Amino acid sequence: MTLVIRSYRKDDQSAVSNLFVDTVQAIPLSDYTQDQLDAWAPKDSVGGIDWDKRIHPGNGYVILLKDRLAAFGTIDQNGYLDFLYVHPKHQRQKLATYLFTRMELEAEELKLAKIYTYASITAKPFFEKMGFRTIRENWIERNGVRFMNWYMEKKM
Ligand SMILES: CC(C)(COP(=O)(O)OP(=O)(O)OC[C@H]1O[C@@H](n2cnc3c(N)ncnc32)[C@H](O)[C@@H]1OP(=O)(O)O)[C@@H](O)C(=O)NCCC(=O)NCCS
Repeated sequence: MTLVIRSYRKDDQSAVSNLFVDTVQAIPLSDYTQDQLDAWAPKDSVGGIDWDKRIHPGNGYVILLKDRLAAFGTIDQNGYLDFLYVHPKHQRQKLATYLFTRMELEAEELKLAKIYTYASITAKPFFEKMGFRTIRENWIERNGVRFMNWYMEKKM
C-alpha cells in the first residue's frame, strides 16, 4: 500500500476535521461516555475546533494511504503535541508511531528538552510505549461536559 507522510497543507483541513470526528466517535465507551465523545468532537460542527488556529503547515503532519487521509498529528516549537489521531480503520498499523517518530526528529532538530501532551485514556498506552511518563491526571471542560486525560511528557 502506498504510504505518504508529509507536512499538513491547508487543503487537508476538511479531511482532517472529518477524520477527527470519525476517530473520536469510534473511541470505546469503556474509556469515555457518549456525552463526553459528543462534547470532544461534535458531529455537526467539524469537531467544533478552530482548525486554522490549531493546525497549519508549520506544525502538522499527515499520513495518506492510497491518497486518502489516514492519520494526522501536530507538534509546536515548544514540544507541545496537541493532536494525534489515526482513523479507526488503520489503528494498530504503526501509523501513530510513524507520525510520532517524525515529530521526535523535529524536536531533536530544535534541541527541545521534552515533548508533552494531554493524552486521552485511549492514547495513554501508546504514549507509554513511545517512552512518555505519566505526570498527573488532568480534567478539562468542553462544551459544558467534564472529562479527564493524562498530562504526559517525554524528556529528550
Ligand atoms: C492513540 C492512537 C493515536 C494510536 O495510534 P495507532 O496508529 O493505532 O498506534 P500504533 O499502531 O503506532 O501503536 C504502537 C504501539 O502503541 C501501543 N498501543 C497503541 N494503541 C493501543 C491501544 N489501543 N491499547 C494498548 N496499546 C496500544 C501498542 O504497544 C502498539 O504496538 P502493537 O500494536 O505492536 O502492540 C489511536 O489509537 C487513536 O487515534 N486513538 C483515538 C484518538 C486519541 O485518543 N488520540 C489521542 C488524543 S490525545
